[in-house]
Amino acid sequence: MSRSTETAPRTVWIDPDDPTAVLAIEQRLLPFEYEEVSIRTADEMAAAIADMVVRGAGCIGVSAGYGMYLAALEARDLSGDDADDYLRRAGAVLEASRPTAVNLTWAVQRQLRELVGIDHGDERLAKARQVADAIADEDVAMCAAIGQHGLEVIREIHERTGRTVNIMTHCNAGWLAFVSHGTATAPMYAAFDAGIPIHVWVSETRPRNQGARLTAWELGQHGVPHTLIADNAAGHLMQHGQVDLIIVGSDRTTVNGDVANKIGTYMKAIAADDNGVPFYAALPSSTFDPTLRDGVANIPIEERDATEVTNATAWFEGHQIEPRVAAPGTEAVNFGFDVTPARLVTGIISERGISEASEESILALYPEFAASLPSPE
Ligand code: MRU
Repeated sequence: MSRSTETAPRTVWIDPDDPTAVLAIEQRLLPFEYEEVSIRTADEMAAAIADMVVRGAGCIGVSAGYGMYLAALEARDLSGDDADDYLRRAGAVLEASRPTAVNLTWAVQRQLRELVGIDHGDERLAKARQVADAIADEDVAMCAAIGQHGLEVIREIHERTGRTVNIMTHCNAGWLAFVSHGTATAPMYAAFDAGIPIHVWVSETRPRNQGARLTAWELGQHGVPHTLIADNAAGHLMQHGQVDLIIVGSDRTTVNGDVANKIGTYMKAIAADDNGVPFYAALPSSTFDPTLRDGVANIPIEERDATEVTNATAWFEGHQIEPRVAAPGTEAVNFGFDVTPARLVTGIISERGISEASEESILALYPEFAASLPSPE
């Protein structure tokens, strides 16, 4: 299968041949098989998000935007309170599908602000489509801008050291996790395309292996040199001077710069701090949650089925298999995310530039967040 960031479709889009359906890349089969799935109802979209057919903070936000388009389609013949209630219920189901990434809520609430109160079904549907497409288009533009800001960090390291820049990432904050470009990967693609020599350490990201399966595949398709490592190898590489910087994505970032990201990110940040390795989080503004200050206390952490830990997912003779890796009868727990406190974050790369992980610096770039701040703690 050969697809690349140049040729791939978006991760989710309205079927051009049948606008009553939304198409999405079936991410659970990648990189071994490429398949597109057709999603026809808002409930089906919520299930696709919960089951990780579509995944990644930006991508599930955009998917929720299109889920609300499907809800507007279902509510086409309704008016008044009936229509508004229908949309609110569909939005609540979408929002509940995964708890940590705030992009979901952000997209649903944006749609509700635009749609509630529109009495005419066709007008409501046209607006839902326009908003969903705008969310997707803005995601593309934000990720492209993140790439340009992050490029300067990589360029500075290359000009200072005169050698290949070794970047570490975790999970998949690539184009598959958004609509295109990605966040953590956008500066890597931009640097590579600018001729700056880079090499990426990709941690496999147990239990779902988004690094091994998705990030390694994405980087390979783009021709970016990379090496897969076991998650536990990160600290060792940093101790031995093999990592110039870390760039990860985020699923929710508080107004003071606490960064929720895939489980295991926090341990990398601690090792980075211990070894003087700069640690950046790259995220679009839709990933900020300005209503929260204390991420460790307040960001909801998804807990997924324990079988993702007791079993691995592998590709064998053309099929996905889930062989058991834990001793029979072993209890397991499966937290999807962790929170890296702001004190361990060197900088936050977003579409408006690079801020320090502090409320003052984030508000300087996003003064509009001031209206949503929590009361002082
Ligand atoms: O595969 P997911 O949806 O469980 O993981 C979410 C993520 O994609 C990562 O945490 C990522 O680094 C955040 S940026 C999309």
